[in-house]
Amino acid sequence: MSDLLIGDIGQLVTNDPEHGGLLGVVESAAVAITSGSVSWVGEAADIPDDYRGLPVLDASQRAVLPGFVDPHTHLVFAGERANEFAMRLRGASYEEILESGGGIHSTVVATRATDEDTLFEMSRARAERMLRAGTTTVEIKSGYGLETETEVKMLRVARRIGDALPIDVVTTFLGAHVVPMSHRERRGEYVADVAGAMLDEVAPYADFCDVFCDDAAFTVDEARTVVTSAQAAGLGIRMHTEQLSRNGGAQLAAEVGAASADHLDHATDGDFRALAAAGTAAVLLPSVSFSMRLPYPDARRVWDSGATVALATDCNPGTSYVETMPLVIALASLEMGLTPEEAVWAATRGAALSLRLEDRGVIAPGAVADLVVLDAPSYTHLPYRPDGGLVSQVVKRGRVVM
Ligand code: NIG
Ligand code: FE
Repeated sequence: MSDLLIGDIGQLVTNDPEHGGLLGVVESAAVAITSGSVSWVGEAADIPDDYRGLPVLDASQRAVLPGFVDPHTHLVFAGERANEFAMRLRGASYEEILESGGGIHSTVVATRATDEDTLFEMSRARAERMLRAGTTTVEIKSGYGLETETEVKMLRVARRIGDALPIDVVTTFLGAHVVPMSHRERRGEYVADVAGAMLDEVAPYADFCDVFCDDAAFTVDEARTVVTSAQAAGLGIRMHTEQLSRNGGAQLAAEVGAASADHLDHATDGDFRALAAAGTAAVLLPSVSFSMRLPYPDARRVWDSGATVALATDCNPGTSYVETMPLVIALASLEMGLTPEEAVWAATRGAALSLRLEDRGVIAPGAVADLVVLDAPSYTHLPYRPDGGLVSQVVKRGRVVM
């Protein structure tokens, strides 16, 4: 917790409607932070006397934005899958590799076999790179255990990352990632376990529960079993769905009032309208399309449906080994039909809302003081200079941490 006055900001993105436009941009701005929260935002010429004595961070006319929120990652994992990546470049499909016991199953083998401290060190290194690139809040899923002990181990590691680094961690139980190889002939038993005994054990470590609801993973009925139990256990709901095919998972997400439905490559306009009406955010993952060489979903359509749009890295060893939000913002602007303004909003405010975190993704009095200073005069440089490295300083709860 800290006090800070960020002065001489050339362009401040507040995401506060009070300042007009989608991004609530204030030029020649300053931000006063006390006890880790934003206390005042305005033009530098108008800094109230009360804040003039605070320690100063001089932004030297650069752009300042809310810290990025990455609302969908699988960053706790062991091993890597570069060989599978090469197979896909030669024409193999993700589903074929998964079906033959590779893909997620190979990461499950590696993650089960890795002790908690080693898994923590590997995963912390990824989170540190995320923080350096401006991510100040990250969601982390389990799902490479597919049995209680490893699922708990993964979620404990995720929480330890939040204790060890100046990054806030939101945890999600993804026991229903795929049916484990051991239960291929007994999938009903596995679903009952996830929704029963496993859920009871992991619930104290999880904020949300997710299900991969897709032809390659769990049916809508199986997903419903898991999410209704998870809701009864007090967890919020997120769903991987309509990624590889359309099976109706987005409608289930809307029906149960999920916080988010993620991927949505095959979702229809009717699905997006249902998500909008239910207040379920649409989390789009452009770096998956990029890494998988698949068509990008039309984010313009999603935005125009009225649904809250969020962007995330989906950092995982299979479909998107991408750690940084600036690349995601660039891909969303260049390939998915969002304007730079919409992409920046979706990577900050939209992403926070998809985690049901009202206190961030915005620079306004009362918000958590998480900010990034770009080594550039405008947020437009994020898509304009897509090779990254534009984040020069990261402020977490009022403390300069990078
Ligand atoms: O979000 N779709 C399923 N789960 C992940 C992939 C995980 C993996 O391949 O290891 C995803 O794309
Ligand atoms: Fe994912």
